[in-house]
Amino acid sequence: MKSQLDHIREVALKDLENLRSLAELEAARVRALGRSSELSQFLRSLKERAEGERRELGELANRLRGELERQFDGAKEKLEDVAYAALEKLDVTAPALRSRRGHIHPLAQAQDDANAIFASMGFRILEGPEVETEWANFDALNTPPDHPARGMQDTFWLQGMEHLMRTHTSPMQVRFMQAHQPPFRIIVPGRVYRNEATDATHEFQFHQIEGLMVARAGEGAPSMANLKGVMEHFYQRFFRDPNIEVRFNASYFPFVEPGVEVYIKGSSGKLAGKWLEVAGAGMVHQNVFERVGYVRGEMQGFAFGMALERIVMLKYKIDDIRLFNGGDLRFLRQF
Ligand code: PHE
Repeated sequence: MKSQLDHIREVALKDLENLRSLAELEAARVRALGRSSELSQFLRSLKERAEGERRELGELANRLRGELERQFDGAKEKLEDVAYAALEKLDVTAPALRSRRGHIHPLAQAQDDANAIFASMGFRILEGPEVETEWANFDALNTPPDHPARGMQDTFWLQGMEHLMRTHTSPMQVRFMQAHQPPFRIIVPGRVYRNEATDATHEFQFHQIEGLMVARAGEGAPSMANLKGVMEHFYQRFFRDPNIEVRFNASYFPFVEPGVEVYIKGSSGKLAGKWLEVAGAGMVHQNVFERVGYVRGEMQGFAFGMALERIVMLKYKIDDIRLFNGGDLRFLRQF
């Protein structure tokens, strides 16, 4: 029986010699001292023995148990020391891993720039609803149901055909004038929707910046010349190009008279050397003033509307409008 205890000690000590980790140590401890270890079984079997033998062997076995427990505790401390020593080799002066930060979307950055430029010219910035009434989006803007110009803006109608996704930001001209008396100057940035096929230059949703400046008719009231000045100043600052020129081409929008398309030409990048269309504009039609409750002939002002995507694409030489909403980080990280 004593030799069985010697054998148990030998096996356990051998096990202890080859430990490389705390996990291995735990496994060895269970093998040597756990409930189903040979030693535990030995202790359990003692109750079948005669009194004297039981006491003698019991004492030996318990002493062995104590000895092995101390050995395991010692081995555990050593392994912990080794692990700690490895930790101390960490180079705490090594540069940290750089975490990637997100940033503002290029369209939002450009919108902030545009807002700041218009604010510096005294324009108030406000937003309006994207779900509009047919009246504000079309009728009040001098575009009755049978008007051929309705076909210019393919519309997403909402169920019931009374509401629609606004096709432009111009309905905010109507809402604002219904609630305010001139003089004022405002811009209305926001998302608009067109029911049309998508390609490199068309999206079914994009952003516009609407502008409206109105005062009492008469000397000093906002004129086509003022409109041109505002456009010039805006594009020169937006593209950081003091050489940008602005030209108006006669055009048609039901809510302005006269109506124009705004063209610009600059000195570098995509703007160099050719005239590019960047906005629609004109003098607010007296029919619109009447619709919002002003007296015909009493007010005078200009309005303009431009697509944000268009000018951002020109500024950064982006050739596909779909990149803005594509979620491709290789594109977005360039800004
Ligand atoms: N709302 C017009 C469009 O979306 C642009 C515009 C705005 C034209 C204001 C003239 C005056 O095409």
